[in-house]
Amino acid sequence: MGKVLEAAGVSKRFLGLQALKEVTLHLEEGEILAVIGPNGAGKSTLLNLLSGLIKPDQGRILFLGQDITHLPPEARTHLGLGRAFQIVQPFPELTVRENLLVGALFGKPGTSRKEGEAWVEEVLHLTGLQSRSEALAGDLTLLEDKRLELARALATRPKVLLLDEVMAGLRPKEAEEAVALVKRIRETGVSILFIEHVMPVVRTLADRVVVLDYGEVIAEGTYQEVAQDPRVREAYLGRRA
Ligand SMILES: Nc1ncnc2c1ncn2[C@@H]1O[C@H](COP(=O)(O)OP(=O)(O)OP(=O)(O)O)[C@@H](O)[C@H]1O
Ligand SMILES: [Mg+2]
Repeated sequence: MGKVLEAAGVSKRFLGLQALKEVTLHLEEGEILAVIGPNGAGKSTLLNLLSGLIKPDQGRILFLGQDITHLPPEARTHLGLGRAFQIVQPFPELTVRENLLVGALFGKPGTSRKEGEAWVEEVLHLTGLQSRSEALAGDLTLLEDKRLELARALATRPKVLLLDEVMAGLRPKEAEEAVALVKRIRETGVSILFIEHVMPVVRTLADRVVVLDYGEVIAEGTYQEVAQDPRVREAYLGRRA
């Protein structure tokens, strides 16, 4: 087991605000890692740095040992770093299958149409979207939307998947299904880093949890370990007041 993704001392400032301060963390091969923290802690900023939407002021991002700090998002996707967004972004006028084919063909340059179509069938099967494959993406329910967003990320054949609050807005029963799906994705050999506010989801899904507060890592460990950490309790309680 090795590190597949690393942030080494990354800092990011927005005008007067230090959104991330010398954050160092890593994702192990085959691991499901949760990044949690109160509102404004810097979680989405971290994910944006990892996926290449923004650049750090300091520090480096390593993917499979390669320095990708200055690579744009598409190049990271091509290397196998996939991302699903909180706000789903499919093409609403294309069918589910067509959306996935776009991901399969553009996510890995050199993929033939035949290879792409075969992979899309597997992704449809894995994500439980077969019966909706001909539906327009714009006609899906919220739960189906979330599945499609995960499926679109998977279609690019990632080795590592970054998920930003993909359970947000789901009912408990639906979140359970989504948890099962993320576990199936991991079983296919994908390592996963996810941001999540829904604590039962973090508890059941994460092998390890990193807690951010005011842009800094304040705790790291199993869910049970961080849930008992006084700094973590204070961060959550203090912010709510
Ligand atoms: N593009 C930006 N310009 C200015 N400030 C920003 C920008 N993006 C984020 N911030 C600020 O940086 C801090 C961290 O924001 P971030 O979105 O990373 O937090 P978060 O942990 O994802 O919060 P939430 O749980 O609410 O999604 C916040 O104070 C936010 O207002
Ligand atoms: Mg956020």
